[in-house]
Amino acid sequence: MTDSRSVARLKKPAMAEAAIAIDSTRIELARARVMARAWAETIVETRRTGQAALFARAAIEAFAACVAPQLTLSPSFVMVRGRLDATARQLAASIGREAAMLPVLKGCHFLTSLYATLLPGRERSALGAFYTPPALTQRLLDLAGEGGVDWSSARVLDPASGGGAFLLEAASRMRLALEGSEPAFVLAQLGTRLSGLELDPHAASLSQAALEIFLSDLSSASGRAVPVFVKVCDTLEETPVAQYDLVIGNPPYGRVTLSAAQRARYARSLYGHANLYGVFTDVALRWTRPGGVIAYLTPTSVLGGQYYTALRQLLAAEAPPVAIDFVHARRGVFEDVLQETLLALYRKGGKPDRFQVHYLNVDNEREARLTKNGKVGLPVDTGAPWLAPREPGHVELIKAAEGMAARLSDWGYGVSTGPLVWNRFKPQMRTRTARGLHPLIWAEAVTADGRFVFRAEKKNHAPYFKTEAGDEWLVVNQGCVLVQRTTAKEQLRRLIAAELPQAFIDAQGGVIVENHLNMVRALGKPKVTPAAVAAVLNSDLIDQVFRCISGSVAVSAFELEAIPLPSASVMAPIERLVANGAPRVAIERALRGLYGLKA
Ligand SMILES: C[S@@+](CC[C@H](N)C(=O)[O-])C[C@H]1O[C@@H](n2cnc3c(N)ncnc32)[C@H](O)[C@@H]1O
Repeated sequence: MTDSRSVARLKKPAMAEAAIAIDSTRIELARARVMARAWAETIVETRRTGQAALFARAAIEAFAACVAPQLTLSPSFVMVRGRLDATARQLAASIGREAAMLPVLKGCHFLTSLYATLLPGRERSALGAFYTPPALTQRLLDLAGEGGVDWSSARVLDPASGGGAFLLEAASRMRLALEGSEPAFVLAQLGTRLSGLELDPHAASLSQAALEIFLSDLSSASGRAVPVFVKVCDTLEETPVAQYDLVIGNPPYGRVTLSAAQRARYARSLYGHANLYGVFTDVALRWTRPGGVIAYLTPTSVLGGQYYTALRQLLAAEAPPVAIDFVHARRGVFEDVLQETLLALYRKGGKPDRFQVHYLNVDNEREARLTKNGKVGLPVDTGAPWLAPREPGHVELIKAAEGMAARLSDWGYGVSTGPLVWNRFKPQMRTRTARGLHPLIWAEAVTADGRFVFRAEKKNHAPYFKTEAGDEWLVVNQGCVLVQRTTAKEQLRRLIAAELPQAFIDAQGGVIVENHLNMVRALGKPKVTPAAVAAVLNSDLIDQVFRCISGSVAVSAFELEAIPLPSASVMAPIERLVANGAPRVAIERALRGLYGLKA
């Protein structure tokens, strides 16, 4: 007789061997993907999409022949003209057979995303065809489950379903929840409760094929065909019905030009130029039933970006966040598009409340570790940036910042960007001074330690500028605080500011400020001096507060204007320290005191 411990001991080597075999399959597949890409790049762009579709179809057919030999895949949603040459056909078939060595969902994910990587770059970007890796798909479904989604009864929609990453994972959880039921019943349930919408017919076909493979055992046991889950359509043109318990996905993002009718339809969530992500979130709200949830992979800029002002207001009013996970991926784990993302769960008709924040540390495409990190609430002005902790220490900081009602505007300042876009004025740049020229202020004039130094040291940067008739709008005559608009990722600080002194401007008869700088300018008589504003912006405390507003290296006027600050009336001690040339640590200590934080 063997006890359970000895069984475990016996099983371990077998499991280890299986894991090694899977790892070597992954290595083989990674190599084959490189070959497939190299092959795709030899094809002219006009034919590449069709060839990519044929290649992926051939691979998934070979995969199906190994893992579900009894299955006949339904035809693709569209016919593709042309044929694969013999070499490509062989490569595709061998990739399909190799992928069959992986667990079936992982194999499906590999093959559907292979299609996206073979697409011409421009088309891939236009569609936003970057499919979600399993580590993120699984966690987003877990979040939905934690939000109350019951897989045994929930209706689920992915409105941009691509290769079916979420459809497959949802199908897996739904069938598990119905384990023990008749296969025909399970198939029928999935058929009525799981749907995808997708613009790209090739991606839609691949996802349908993957679902047919995954559910093929139920199909053969019941003698019923696997239902059609995906509709090929433009989601923005569909008429929504608020019937889903869960709308889930990784919607495309990037700027989009909407038709006049679409702009009118989505006006409630638009602010300035439309972004696909915002529109797809608006769409999700329309498909979700009251009380249902939306689980979206989301660019972090949604929390603080100006373009998302109306969307934040809409979400706060109709579907406030319940939980967010910031995704921290090791370099190279994802394609760039997934670097600045979070997973968000919103409840339609929920009450705005403090919501849970987690960090999801992603080690590779498949594995992630989760850390809980406090709760945060929405600001009173829900269109303003939503402060969120990017690291553990930020929770206390946000609590302190929530009590700070003043903004730069209350101190008497507005923020704009330097007006000169240099490459539009190249002929007017000068390397030497002469009468009538103005100094040209570049980002490097603001030193890392917060001083203003007139210099132009980088490539193409000239120190002087010749204005011509009509250029008066470029000349800055008023002292201000300059803040760099971008900082390098590896730089310690996000906010780098310096006072541009009035005396320097007066001595030069006005200066020209280049566009990589923000200008914090007094509107009338300010309540806080520019020197104190610069010192506050250069403090570590405000640098950290700013990171709770923006996770990116860009520093926009909108975000600067949203920094929670102490009232101008309590700034006298800081003013004194700055006027007396006190060291930074002393200013830092005094500022922390104003926020009610320990020194
Ligand atoms: C970021 S991918 C996500 C795909 C899949 N849900 C996943 O997570 O792997 C976005 C998908 O949206 C699709 N898409 C873009 N615009 C669309 C539109 N107007 N209607 C429907 N789908 C669209 C793209 O083709 C692409 O497959």
